[in-house]
Amino acid sequence: MRQFIQFLAEKNHHQATHLLQILRAIQSRYHYVPKDAIEQLAGLLHIPRTRIISVVEFYSFLHLTPRGYYELLISDSITDHMLGKINLTGYLAKQLNVAVGGVREDGMVSLDNTSCTGLCDQGPAGLVNGHPLPRLDRTRIDVITELINQQKPLAEWPAELFKVEDNIHKPGLLLKQQIDHGAALRTAFKRGMQETLAEIDKSGLRGRGGAGFKTAMKWRFGLEEQQNERYVICNADEGEPGTFKDRVLLNSFAHQVFEGMTLCAAIIGAQKGFVYLRGEYLYLYDKLQSILNERRKAGLLGINILQQGLDFDIEICLGAGAYICGEESALIESLEGKAGIPRNRPPYPVTQGYLGKPTVVNNVETFYAASAIAVNGGEWFANVGTEKSKGTKILSISGDCTRTGIYEFPFGTTIQTILEDCGASDVLGVQIGGPSGTFISNQEFDRRLAFEDLSTCGSFIVFNNHRNILDIVNNFTRFFAHESCGFCTPCRVGTSLLKKQLAKIVEGHGSAGDVVVLEELCQLIKNYSHCGLGQTAANPVLTTLGRYPEVYQSKLKEISYEPGFDLDGALETARRLAKRNDAGAHLAQTEENHE
Ligand SMILES: Cc1cc2nc3c(=O)[nH]c(=O)nc-3n(C[C@H](O)[C@H](O)[C@H](O)COP(=O)(O)O)c2cc1C
Ligand code: SF4
Repeated sequence: MRQFIQFLAEKNHHQATHLLQILRAIQSRYHYVPKDAIEQLAGLLHIPRTRIISVVEFYSFLHLTPRGYYELLISDSITDHMLGKINLTGYLAKQLNVAVGGVREDGMVSLDNTSCTGLCDQGPAGLVNGHPLPRLDRTRIDVITELINQQKPLAEWPAELFKVEDNIHKPGLLLKQQIDHGAALRTAFKRGMQETLAEIDKSGLRGRGGAGFKTAMKWRFGLEEQQNERYVICNADEGEPGTFKDRVLLNSFAHQVFEGMTLCAAIIGAQKGFVYLRGEYLYLYDKLQSILNERRKAGLLGINILQQGLDFDIEICLGAGAYICGEESALIESLEGKAGIPRNRPPYPVTQGYLGKPTVVNNVETFYAASAIAVNGGEWFANVGTEKSKGTKILSISGDCTRTGIYEFPFGTTIQTILEDCGASDVLGVQIGGPSGTFISNQEFDRRLAFEDLSTCGSFIVFNNHRNILDIVNNFTRFFAHESCGFCTPCRVGTSLLKKQLAKIVEGHGSAGDVVVLEELCQLIKNYSHCGLGQTAANPVLTTLGRYPEVYQSKLKEISYEPGFDLDGALETARRLAKRNDAGAHLAQTEENHE
């Protein structure tokens, strides 16, 4: 082991910024991060061992105690539940003789749940040692059991078990026509970088990661910062349950995404870029590396790109199972080899990002769209969509419909049209934008996909009339409690209390007063949390409580609180701590909202 750790430290130039990548390699080899490895690494990277331990503890794919030689994780996304995840997991546990959350006595296999794996169009899904296992059923589970019991290396497992489909059902403006490799860069060099930025501005492109910030404005801010060192980051963390369009863009159109990053670097003057690839997309890593190599060979990456004096290269860094690392400042912390705890904002990454330098962070789809705009011009894009939402949006559609997968629609398309296209009928409602977004009922299908109406990072989950609203909300609420990074009290304590309070109502132990407490708790979490995760964690309750009060009321009965659980006391403590700890953060957020 000593040799291996030494090798890893040298390969990573003894840089603590690479800590997460090093720990991933150790976990992958030993199935945990041994104490001795931590000791040795602390010396080699010149960092305290407590920092290493806190990083291991932070990421759900890293462990201080051994996991199985075959580490199985089953997605806990609502769509997996709708496809029978609970029964399948039980079957898997029985066949393999391992408890959920445990390791088999012989150490061969461990089994656990994990947050959405980005395979909602082909669930129920799981991961084995980080590799995808889509379309799980009893037949596949029998095959997997046999392979594990025979101790077959993953390389010898049938490729079909790992095959992930793109499922592109409706290509539009962007997906119908790919640009030629290098076309955006050649056009931009010919047209001029400032002129190309003006085209992106004219296109009206807004960030596709959720917040919808104007891309040209972000790039201009990056350009205007008085620094020599700048960075470009592609946010491929895609952790919002129900979102998988970035997976498809990276699997089939990575050239165009890398081209968008290089274009951004040429415009703002960056020399280094990162793709922060979620750990669940490990299977894309080698393919993406070989595309980067192709681009280097073609003179589209590296030194003196297209002989125009531009030096820029891209490094791919893998995440390790933490939804919060999709938040851009947490992502940067993670890239710096730390736990992904969101920073105070401002300063925003575009002024102080990676290593304190100006950093443009954009979503995969944003870079993909930007390179097409560079080739086709701003007007081409701006001619489609609505006044404030130009162009198209790529959606990941899952749930109760006949054709789950990828769709591209012009902004302004009604939800009804989308539902018809994906083959949904007898619909109860749709979760737009994932758990952090909005639940809309079947009375609202004339609403439109647009920043002015229903904005989305791309997640579109359909629920039919046989689904129970409270099951859905329960699943989403558990997700946030699990993914809260724990840094601030309103979110850490609040999401956990919300989970308990909701469970109490769902299980039929709640009284009318409990719904009031539930709402109060939601407001507390929303208003006092430090970052976007906490600020949206109550959305599943808030957006359904208003629409379906009768569903909540039907579960109520006249009882007092369970003995031993002092909810009022806990709430009061959370409120007090929230005021004390987060007054500054809340103030910053309020100021940001005013701006
Ligand atoms: C909890 C949380 C998770 C997020 N996850 C992602 C993500 O997976 N991918 C993404 O592009 N943006 C994500 N974002 C938004 C990013 O912080 C950031 O706004 C985005 O990467 C900017 O790119 P864009 O302007 O191209 O949208 C997340 C935000 C929050 C608060
Ligand atoms: S709101 Fe939640 S995720 Fe965000 S910093 Fe606070 S504890 Fe962490």
